[in-house]
Amino acid sequence: MSQPPARPEPVERAPANIPRHVAIIMDGNGRWAKQRGLPRIEGHRRGVETVRTTTFAARDLGVKVLTLYAFSVENWKRPQDEVGGLMTLLEFYLKKELKTFIRDRVRLLTIGRTEELPASVQELLRETIAATKDFHDYTLVLALNYGARTEVIDAAQAYAAAVADGREKLNDRSWETFSRYLYTAELPEPDLVIRTSGESRISNFLLLQAAYAEFVFSPVLWPDFTKDDLAAAIADYAKRERRYGLTSEQLKPPAGVSVSA
Ligand code: FPP
Repeated sequence: MSQPPARPEPVERAPANIPRHVAIIMDGNGRWAKQRGLPRIEGHRRGVETVRTTTFAARDLGVKVLTLYAFSVENWKRPQDEVGGLMTLLEFYLKKELKTFIRDRVRLLTIGRTEELPASVQELLRETIAATKDFHDYTLVLALNYGARTEVIDAAQAYAAAVADGREKLNDRSWETFSRYLYTAELPEPDLVIRTSGESRISNFLLLQAAYAEFVFSPVLWPDFTKDDLAAAIADYAKRERRYGLTSEQLKPPAGVSVSA
């Protein structure tokens, strides 16, 4: 493949050197709480505050899509009271944010098997997604009951069904076609993936979509993550050369040709 993946997307371009799509693995809530002798759920509660501040910080910095890994398919295996606490926090968060999303024109989307979430959460998600569907300047994507492997299974199943009823051709074999069956079909691929708390793992997050993403691993625990930390990650990203498998020379414009953004 000699070109970066490209497909038409209904999301606006970000300013030069600003990642259009930032995806964050929000890690360190438990350690934040433990350091203070508090129950883990207090770390998650503070983590929700950081979700709020980061949503608006990212937009202020010029990002167009922010994806937050809020609950993975593996997180169901945590102690029942922690899982219940996270679902309650999610419910409170959605109830409280609806007005803010409408006022500030934030479109909410989700990725993941949301049909397995509690009915009350599903209902709030439906309501919020419907109420914000016409905002296209800025999109917040919550990864909920998300796992990249389950996403591939779901995409393969939907693709197979489309082949079976003649909507797709089995011998197409293009990424462009297959990627339309991923949860992220209508989104640009992440340019920058950030993980907080000093861990350097991807943990089953956007494995296919992050194929050409840049990664920043921040030592800051998620509840302490600030707009300055996000700006620092973006500044680090801006210094990097993204080559998409090409050489550095191939990316340079021929002598005498000026390129404008
Ligand atoms: C990781 O911290 C974080 C999570 C498993 C979930 C992230 C959830 C939130 C920020 C709150 C809920 C979100 C919304 C949108 C309402 P950890 O518990 O694994 O931390 P540790 O590694 O220090 O134990």
